[in-house]
Amino acid sequence: MHDETIAIHGGYSGDSTRAVAVPIYQTVSHDFVDASHAGAIFDIEIPGFHYNRINNPTNDVLERRMSELEGGTAALSVASGMAAVSYALLTVARAGSNIVAMPQLYGATYTYLSHVLPTFGVDTRFTADDSAASVAGLIDDYTCAVFFETVGNPAGNVVDIEAVTSVAHARGVPVIVDNTVPTPLMLKPIRFGADVVVHSLTKFVGGHGIALGGVIVDAGSFAWERSPRRFPMFNEPEPAFHDVVFARDFPGRAFAVRARSVTLRNTGATLSPTSAFHLLQGLETLAVRLERHEANARRVAEFLSADRRVAWVGYAGFADHPYYELNQRYLAGRVPSIVTFGPTGGYEAAISFFDSVKLFKRLVNLGDAKSLVSHPASTTHRQLRPHELAAAGILPEAVRLSVGLEHIDDLLADLDQALEVASRPNPA
Ligand SMILES: Cc1ncc(COP(=O)(O)O)c(C=O)c1O
Repeated sequence: MHDETIAIHGGYSGDSTRAVAVPIYQTVSHDFVDASHAGAIFDIEIPGFHYNRINNPTNDVLERRMSELEGGTAALSVASGMAAVSYALLTVARAGSNIVAMPQLYGATYTYLSHVLPTFGVDTRFTADDSAASVAGLIDDYTCAVFFETVGNPAGNVVDIEAVTSVAHARGVPVIVDNTVPTPLMLKPIRFGADVVVHSLTKFVGGHGIALGGVIVDAGSFAWERSPRRFPMFNEPEPAFHDVVFARDFPGRAFAVRARSVTLRNTGATLSPTSAFHLLQGLETLAVRLERHEANARRVAEFLSADRRVAWVGYAGFADHPYYELNQRYLAGRVPSIVTFGPTGGYEAAISFFDSVKLFKRLVNLGDAKSLVSHPASTTHRQLRPHELAAAGILPEAVRLSVGLEHIDDLLADLDQALEVASRPNPA
């Protein structure tokens, strides 16, 4: 099936009532037929549901659909994109291990890696840049994952996924990527070697800014059994889940099963089935929305780059963009509708522009049907110190636009009037 079809039908062919829309299974529990049925479900010997912190039929459809779109073997939905990022890493990390990560990250992910995980004895080694060579130089015997955003938010860098996965795999280390910005409709990291893909479904997949959600997709390809010392949690009896040995007992989906039965089960950032339902509605129209997002973003980028009130524009669809070639290769020339730019007046002008938009919404989200504007240095990345901001690829004056689905003329008119205000001399 093609992506457009999977996004509408994947993982669901009707339930016992023949409901066409995926029903919201608003229940906490499912009863057992008898004790042996209960035991088989608890041992994951047969498919089924028992308690909705762990799984739910509505969420199950979303998981199957996202897994199919990404080309994975299994998936786990969670309450937010941050839950997906943190759970994916917690599933492989333990005190004493380290994560090699690229710094061009969403702000909370950066903070989680740099300031939260280290308090539990898991260090992050940030690479100097997003090259495979920088990654290779930091991997050691205690590295449990290489982590990066396939397209960085808001830096817009496109990572050479094949090059990075090959250096990580040569050292026996799995690669976990955040594919939120391009979505699987523009980029499928598993095809290029990624082992685990996470998403904030809150963004383009949901598309309407009405539900938080995240997903972790297991490629099923990483050979956990080849690194027993690095990954005892996959190779030794698991005390947190009646002594199963994940790599042995769940070949091809060991990561997803451990993420569900150890990480999610014992910490509980479960996606609500009503949110899963909302996210499924969004997913059904993702393909057509992305086309309009892309077309509008290109027009916005062209408008800004031709404007004397704008100093620079970050848009990977322009041939002179540093990531143009990688974007052509990994996203087949498609460009996510995130456009960054710096007004000629610098930081003050950026703030003035931000304050002056009338149609663009001032908020910290992306991928909504509505056009959005954010100023990363004062919001999502505010907690980063100046050197961290620079490493994350964020200039103080950078304005990030998430270009939505409105009529392009209305968007350009709003940008024009806000730039006019921002370019006025500061009376002070
Ligand atoms: C690339 C990326 N990953 C993860 C997240 C976190 O997602 P959520 O807000 O759903 O927790 C975001 C949020 O902006 C993001 O942009």
